Amino acid sequence: MSTKELVWFVTGASRGLGLALTKRILARGDRVVATARNLNAFDPLLADPSTDRSRILILQLDVTSPADAVQGVVREAVEHWGRIDVLVNNAGMGGGVGPSEEQGVDHMMEVMRTNYTGTLSVTHAVLPHMRKRCAGTVLLFGSRTAYRNEFLGPCECSPRRVCPCAD
Ligand SMILES: NC(=O)c1ccc[n+]([C@@H]2O[C@H](COP(=O)([O-])OP(=O)(O)OC[C@H]3O[C@@H](n4cnc5c(N)ncnc54)[C@H](OP(=O)(O)O)[C@@H]3O)[C@@H](O)[C@H]2O)c1
Repeated sequence: MSTKELVWFVTGASRGLGLALTKRILARGDRVVATARNLNAFDPLLADPSTDRSRILILQLDVTSPADAVQGVVREAVEHWGRIDVLVNNAGMGGGVGPSEEQGVDHMMEVMRTNYTGTLSVTHAVLPHMRKRCAGTVLLFGSRTAYRNEFLGPCECSPRRVCPCAD
């Protein structure tokens, strides 16, 4: 493999931005470890004749799995292509639209397990391999809602359903 080619590791590659990025990575001639918790989701991608199968490794990964399971998937990826150049922590779930109290604590805990703990777990599994090579890039997906809340606490008194108290 040429040193100019990058090896990407993408979580939540089954749909949305993760799938779009996976297609772009293949289109630019790089290699990708595309992971998803449901492998059947990749069927349309693999059925597409433009998909270069020699550049994609598909692995099952639920980012909320126990740490040793996550480490096992990362190890398999590293053994396959010798390295991970770019980790894309894309897997995530939205906090939901509507007042925070209507989402329920169970839902918010699931969001935390996926977006926060899941991201940490995958990053912790990949970092030792990047440290060994003194090289690597870690990407994190976040949301502007984290610092400008327009969804979790809308207010009936505003036409935009944004509480005037928020500013
Ligand atoms: N789109 C936006 O406007 C926006 C805005 C702010 C932040 N973001 C963030 O950007 C990222 C991608 O957004 P998106 O719009 O493409 O989201 P999306 O269409 O909802 O896709 C989310 C992806 O994450 C996967 N996923 C969820 N929980 C998982 C888990 N426990 N383990 C492994 N994969 C899991 C989903 O897999 P399944 O198919 O199995 O459900 C899916 O592939 C997310 O982290 C999201 O929070 C997006």
